[in-house]
Amino acid sequence: MQEKGTFATLPALMKKASNSRDRALRRLVQEHGSPVMAISRAALKNQVRRFRTQLPRVQPFYAIKANPHPEVLKTFVACGTGFDVASIAEMDAVLAAGAKPTQIVYANTIKPVESIRGAVERGVGLMTFDSEYELAKIAEHAPGSRVLARIKVPNIGSVVELSLKFGADPSDAMELLIKAHRLGLKPTGVSFHVGSQCTQRENYIQALELASILFRDARLKQIPLDILDIGGGFPIRHFDNEEDLFDSTSRAITQEIERLFDQNVRFMAEPGRFFAGPAATLVMRVIGKAIRENKHWYYLDDGVYGTLSGMIFDHAKYQFKVTRTGRTQLSTIAGPTCDSLDIIARGEEMPELELGDIVYVENCGAYSSASATSFNGLAPAKIVMVP
Ligand SMILES: Cc1ncc(COP(=O)(O)O)c(C=O)c1O
Repeated sequence: MQEKGTFATLPALMKKASNSRDRALRRLVQEHGSPVMAISRAALKNQVRRFRTQLPRVQPFYAIKANPHPEVLKTFVACGTGFDVASIAEMDAVLAAGAKPTQIVYANTIKPVESIRGAVERGVGLMTFDSEYELAKIAEHAPGSRVLARIKVPNIGSVVELSLKFGADPSDAMELLIKAHRLGLKPTGVSFHVGSQCTQRENYIQALELASILFRDARLKQIPLDILDIGGGFPIRHFDNEEDLFDSTSRAITQEIERLFDQNVRFMAEPGRFFAGPAATLVMRVIGKAIRENKHWYYLDDGVYGTLSGMIFDHAKYQFKVTRTGRTQLSTIAGPTCDSLDIIARGEEMPELELGDIVYVENCGAYSSASATSFNGLAPAKIVMVP
């Protein structure tokens, strides 16, 4: 893990005049080779700061699936965030980074029994569920655990739909919480996820309304709930011309929290993309060039099997930037593997590029290196931490 003096801070640098920014990108490649992903500690910390400022009542538990790099985890441990993990391997990663078991929520509603036992061994006692089968497993292998019932909520317009696979129907949730109580578990609260990259704040508003009905019902049934986990979904910008929706989304959430819930309810969230996404810049180089269908094709040294894997798994769309200037033309960019799936973009407006030229993508720290493979023996980008 190198951290050399390439940058003042990455965010400051990316806002600089193009020639000094481009020089720094070239230096980064000279120092570390290409492809390389630079993750800025300052940007990671800034996301935590923004979250806490805009959502003062909500405790963030970073969803490490977005980017489990050990240095990213250590940075968030130092910020005092909690962690959302989906497996024992993720649990061990955050514990190794210095998190305490009490700072962890095991937020996968379907868990192997070995992992449920593993959570108990590690002292992690807060987990989500969304079916009575899962409750029975938790009651047997992690008796007395605190459980959050995950409910299905609208995911309308979110780039990644999560309610297709997870969440109890809200009308069944009360029954499940009562069942948890009868099984000797501690029904502690409710969780939901509005879908990742949620650009419609109405999804949060409706989810909070649904959760508040459950909180009232539970109180009447003598099962008072303490925690509402509002999940992830907080949107980021991928393109320069996109609106930043985080502040307006957070304002709506804060208003609804104040309106619908008692002062003693604790709120947590599981931001993944919002914490890791804006902190990373991926720098690639042109390794091949061809003219096909009367168009320039540029082959880069990273692609959809590598660090751009989010284009497949996360439905991500990225803004590709170049350091070369000049008259633009419609071009195709592709990755380095032998598969035609590895075509990155077909209608990019870019100046004519030459071999060795830099192509870079900002805001790509989430769901990118996390799902990268080394298909064809081609390693994804080296990750370097920068200030
Ligand atoms: C249970 C759970 N929590 C949190 C997240 C993180 O969501 P996001 O990256 O949209 O913040 C996910 C993403 O898939 C998830 O499945």
